[in-house]
Formats: sequence, structure tokens, C-alpha cells
Amino acid sequence: MVRKPRLALIGAGHMGLAMAKSWIKQGLVEKQGWLAIIDPNPSEAALALAKSLNIIITPILEKDQAKLLETLVLAVKPKLVGEVGNSIADRLPTNTLIISVAAGVTLNQLNGIFDPRPVIRAMPNMPASIGRGATVFVAGKHADAHDKKRAYDLLSASGIAEEVSEERALDAVTAVSGSGPAYVFLLAEAMAVAGMAEGLDPALARKLACETVAGAGELLRQRDCDPAILRAEVTSPGGTTAAAMDVLMGSGGFAEMMRRAVNSAARRSAQLGSQT
Ligand SMILES: NC(=O)c1ccc[n+]([C@@H]2O[C@H](COP(=O)([O-])OP(=O)(O)OC[C@H]3O[C@@H](n4cnc5c(N)ncnc54)[C@H](OP(=O)(O)O)[C@@H]3O)[C@@H](O)[C@H]2O)c1
Repeated sequence: MVRKPRLALIGAGHMGLAMAKSWIKQGLVEKQGWLAIIDPNPSEAALALAKSLNIIITPILEKDQAKLLETLVLAVKPKLVGEVGNSIADRLPTNTLIISVAAGVTLNQLNGIFDPRPVIRAMPNMPASIGRGATVFVAGKHADAHDKKRAYDLLSASGIAEEVSEERALDAVTAVSGSGPAYVFLLAEAMAVAGMAEGLDPALARKLACETVAGAGELLRQRDCDPAILRAEVTSPGGTTAAAMDVLMGSGGFAEMMRRAVNSAARRSAQLGSQT
């Protein structure tokens, strides 16, 4: 029996392959039909991962495949969405669901390329590569309940997925969870450097910082994500943690810097949306 390409992913990069891996792991590809991964110039790492997953990366989506597509996931860089989308849109059935994870590419822009097909704009994050992602999505005007369910199933395969009704929330989402892993990596980096400045061996400082961030993250997850309560639990009045908190929570400290950083990322997301 010929397997039908019901689901196609365009862009075998970090995010695209992280999602494809989770679809296969969760058995969604079998449910949805064959998975076609399209990338004209896949990296060695992409080819190796594809091989380990027993899937093929092809340079273009053939006409015969395109007309059978139920869902197309776009995971190319934002500046390529227009070019890639326009090259394929006419060949897709009018009910093919388009899911874009491109940062800053708006529903309006996606509708401009794919109308009258239903479109969904999603913002995942990199922990999706280990099944611990956080994705938020917003549905375009032609997407019905069935389309949203299909998008939810695909996006939640790599972690949590939440739908929002207002597209403008996506800029804040991009700034909190999309870019967020980098803030946490910076925290670990800064803790390690600070540990070295206090005389710790560099390798030990890095190990302690990484394990502390990872362990605290896991604790947060297991304790229903209530960071303020957990922080209070580990901060005895007058103790060592309190001494650090006085610095971190003081004027111009961590909370204030995070507020400025997230605001800057959200503004950049909105700006990218108006440029792409
Ligand atoms: N990485 C994240 O943490 C993250 C988080 C949220 C959203 N996103 C979004 O996910 C998208 C992909 O990001 P990424 O980090 O995965 O980037 P990436 O690693 O560069 O992946 C993009 C892939 O698309 C390929 N490509 C280029 N032109 C193509 C074409 N015409 N047809 C098919 N594939 C093509 C690229 O190949 P070449 O390398 O040869 O150009 C690359 O393999 C972006 O829009 C980004 O905004 C990423």
C-alpha cells in the first residue's frame, strides 16, 4: 500500500527536527499518515537524526505529495516564510492546515500567503527537543475546532501547549518562553563565573551551577510551579540566601532587569512581525 504524505514539515533545523522527533516518539506520525520532511540543504546532524528516526529528508515537496497534505508545518527562518509559502501554496488543497512556528510572522501574513487555508501561528521553545517544550498558539480566521485539535496534538507532543485567543500575546510569549531558555542558560553561566570569583575550581563551579539550575527547575515543576513559595522556603531570615536576595531583589536587581529584558524581547518580536 502506498503511504500518503498527510503531514509535511518544511525546514529540518533545530526546531523542525525537535518537533518531528516528538511526533514520531508519540506515535502521531502513524496516526496522521506519512511524514514528509523538506529541506534542500539539510545539515549532517539533521541527516543523522533523520536516519536514526527512519525518515527521509527530501529537497522539495512533490506535486503528488502536496495535493494529499492535511497539515503543513513551517519551521524555516521567518524571512523565508513568504518565499517558501508562496512557492507551495497553490499546490495545496484548500483545507490543508498550515502551522507556522516562525517568530514574528503574523496570522495576517500567513493568511496573505495561504488563504483560504486555515493557519495557526505557534511559538515553541527549544526544550521541545527533549519533550519539555512550552508552546503557545493562536488560530487564524479559517481554523475550526478540528484544526485547533490537530495543531494541539502536534504541538503538545513536545511538551505543554496552550492556546491564546489574542495574537498580540504572542510577542510576550516569545519574550518569556521562546527566548526564555537563553535567560536560564545565562543564569547558570553567571552563577558559575561568580563561583569561580569566589575561588571555586572552574569545572566544579560550572557543574554546581548547572545542576542547581536543573534541579531547581525540576523542583518547580514537581511543586506546581509556585516560584515565590519555593523561594521563601529556601530563604531563612538573616541567612546566606537572604543576603543574596537583598542584592538580587533590590533596586535595579534581577527582577527589574528581567522586566526590561522581557520587554525588549517583546518589542523586538513585534518589530520583526512588522518587517517580515
Ligand atoms: N530555535 C528556537 O529556539 C526557536 C524557538 C521558537 C521558534 N523558532 C522558529 O523556528 C524556525 C526555525 O528555527 P531554527 O532555530 O530551527 O532554525 P534553523 O536551525 O536554521 O532551521 C531552519 C531550517 O530550514 C532550512 N531551510 C532553509 N531554506 C529552506 C527551504 N527553502 N525549504 C526548506 N527548508 C529550508 C534551513 O537550511 P539552511 O541551514 O541550509 O538554510 C534550516 O535547516 C524559525 O522561524 C524560528 O523563528 C525557533
